[in-house]
Amino acid sequence: MKSINVKTSHPYEVIIERGSINKCGEYISKVTASRKSAVITDDIVGGLYGKTVEESLKNSGFECSVFTFKNGEQSKCLSTFGEILDFLAESGITRSDIIIALGGGVVGDITGFAAASYLRGVEFVQIPTTLLAQVDSSVGGKTAIDIPSGKNLVGAFKQPALVICDSDTLKTLPSETLADGMAEVIKYGMIRDKSLFELIESHDLDTVDEIMDDLVYRCIDIKRDVVEHDEFDKGERFILNFGHTLGHALEGWHNYTDYTHGMGVATGMCIITEKLASADIADRLKKCAESYRLPTGTDIPMSELLPFCSKDKKRESGNISYIICRTIGKADIVKVPVKEFARLMEG
Ligand code: NAD
Ligand code: GLY
Repeated sequence: MKSINVKTSHPYEVIIERGSINKCGEYISKVTASRKSAVITDDIVGGLYGKTVEESLKNSGFECSVFTFKNGEQSKCLSTFGEILDFLAESGITRSDIIIALGGGVVGDITGFAAASYLRGVEFVQIPTTLLAQVDSSVGGKTAIDIPSGKNLVGAFKQPALVICDSDTLKTLPSETLADGMAEVIKYGMIRDKSLFELIESHDLDTVDEIMDDLVYRCIDIKRDVVEHDEFDKGERFILNFGHTLGHALEGWHNYTDYTHGMGVATGMCIITEKLASADIADRLKKCAESYRLPTGTDIPMSELLPFCSKDKKRESGNISYIICRTIGKADIVKVPVKEFARLMEG
């Protein structure tokens, strides 16, 4: 078993261990005095792992009620959020009890926000079951739901009490969903760790399970470091957004359907690197993304993507920030006027 301690305003442990989902009750019993729990999950993950988690919780003396919603981003919305709050109230969950998010980033984000708001805050545990959720969304305390005006527009910072990562759960992921998570893993190598990037590029989507525990550990450790320095996203944490400016634009252009976050991040990283870094680095990044069956470019004209990039224009008063890696393992945050960004991208 490996573990990482995240020293944020509310410190917690991330456990990285194959098979840990089978003994999650034991681990959770160490972070709460209560023996009453509520598990929130989606229909796919609930079907695969719900019983295991329930059984483990019951074996550790927990009373356990389970709420299941339909899988997918469309569920990360106000109506599911309301249903979760009603479920917690009807289950008699009090401020001293524990809520458990079992699933990918969608389950983690909406459950975390429910845990932040129900009774003005109840402790929650993340059991992330996608690669993206293990290396990114379950750690760092960002929780959110989508509203019709935009994605992740309503949320709160709420650090979990514990994160349990079992990379065996990744074996049931569709290969496209695993590839999605790999886009974030490649991102960590690019922004912070050359040897991590070299390890990633020496494998591919078919052989990555051999190094999965190492990847998950190293990515979470990078995220831990970034989040400990900038928990509330005032500056340095923005480096986690390498590839995301164009990535979000691509997701938005596709109306958040049939084009995943990982596809956007991979394409965004490749385009910005090709435009602004050396050909050697751009080529290595492109080959690496291709070996994880991720897209590396788009036929959509930049003029159609740019309006989606300027979404943060108001917050940044006419400027736009992007991340550039001129060396593998090192990232810089660059802030330029929106017009300058457009010129660079169209060039
Ligand atoms: P997801 O939660 O929708 O999961 C993807 C699909 O995989 C779903 O259909 C799910 O049911 C299924 N699934 C999950 N685990 C499985 C398993 N082990 N086996 C088989 N199927 C499984 O998507 P995601 O990519 O995990 O998360 C995306 C969400 O995360 C987005 O809403 C995004 O905004 C959010 N996010 C949040 C943060 C953060 O810091 N809070 C960071 C990045 C992304
Ligand atoms: N996923 C970006 C962040 O946590 O800041």
